[in-house]
Amino acid sequence: VPITTARKLVLLGESAVGKSSIVLQFVKKQFDEWRESTIGAAFLTQTVPVKSGNFIWDTAGQERYKSLAPMYYRSAHAAVVAFDITSSASFEKARSWIAELQRQADPGIVIVLAGNKLDLVSQRQVSTADAEQFAREEGLLYFEVSAKTAEGIEEMFQTVAEKMPIE
Ligand code: GTP
Ligand code: MG
Repeated sequence: VPITTARKLVLLGESAVGKSSIVLQFVKKQFDEWRESTIGAAFLTQTVPVKSGNFIWDTAGQERYKSLAPMYYRSAHAAVVAFDITSSASFEKARSWIAELQRQADPGIVIVLAGNKLDLVSQRQVSTADAEQFAREEGLLYFEVSAKTAEGIEEMFQTVAEKMPIE
């Protein structure tokens, strides 16, 4: 598939919410409990082919990379904005990513909100109802997933892939 027609899905969200883990689970069916969050190298941490012509772009959530983000989401067809259901702060961060995407990304971009770490439900700080209501107000899809147990991951990417515009 020529690079010019490749469809890109960018993963955004605060550091340590589990973006790289979501990709690892989806692509390799693996989870790494002690994996450190992506530090240092670059904003774009890995590019993973999903199927022919579809790529996931995993990004670094650290604040110092924030200014690079537009370069990546500008050409994206879909964005998965992740937060950690055990962290209200990460939900606030997700809301601000979504506001930025709605202002600056391609108007046709498909935006999905993903509440990760569903296996840690006993430590939940963000209720399903609050996240769903926010998603409804903003016209987004909302999924609750666990990169650890794989719950919801396949379904989320499947749904996003179906909704990604075909050029
Ligand atoms: P940055 O690359 O810094 O932006 O972080 P990230 O969003 O890629 O987070 P990463 O995937 O590196 O995960 C951070 C930590 O959370 C790791 O210790 C993971 O093992 C853990 N983690 C990720 N997803 C889950 C999950 O679904 N459940 C649990 N229990 N832990 C998770
Ligand atoms: Mg990462």
